[in-house]
Amino acid sequence: MNISLEETLLDAIRTIPDYPKPGIKFRDITTLLGNARAFRRAVDELVHPYAGTKIDKIAGIEARGFILGGAIAHQLSAGFIPIRKKGKLPHETVRVAYSLEYGIDEMEMHRDAVAPGEKVMLVDDLIATGGTAEGATKLLRQMGADIVAACFVIDLPELGGRSKLETLDVPVRTLISYD
Ligand code: PRP
Ligand code: ADE
Repeated sequence: MNISLEETLLDAIRTIPDYPKPGIKFRDITTLLGNARAFRRAVDELVHPYAGTKIDKIAGIEARGFILGGAIAHQLSAGFIPIRKKGKLPHETVRVAYSLEYGIDEMEMHRDAVAPGEKVMLVDDLIATGGTAEGATKLLRQMGADIVAACFVIDLPELGGRSKLETLDVPVRTLISYD
């Protein structure tokens, strides 16, 4: 029997109530990552529209965007840019403050991680308010990147992140959503 992509992914992702704060339903992809079939399927589905498209680099957002982004970079023969929480990168950085569903933080990228005009795909596991992806978009564009797409396994549409990114002219690809 053929199991749909949506069923495969929904079955593989676990929801933790009240984490990290009361009222948050945390969509935990560690169970998806531990499921070889679901992990492979998620990566394949995220990349397949971009096979044959020139993408120089994947920018992965710490921490879960590193795991998916590394696999996607390998599939697309692209380089990888880590976008990290502040204070983790050793060389000269650009920094931006951002807010997300359950807090505020700052993220950084190495100044020399991207050259002007390079085509970059942004990758993370989930988009909620879009604050994190918006911050990453600002950093990449500040250094002259051309963001061709932003890809996420999970969309939480009620929180408006997808629309926020589309307003910034970033094409968004997501695989499943939760109301
Ligand atoms: C989660 C998720 C995204 C972000 C999305 O990361 O992996 O990066 O939240 O939220 P937003 O769309 O409201 O900005 P988190 O900050 O929990 O970091 P982690 O991956 O290091 O756990
Ligand atoms: N990041 C922001 N909101 C989240 C949620 N509900 N589950 C997992 N990661 C998140």
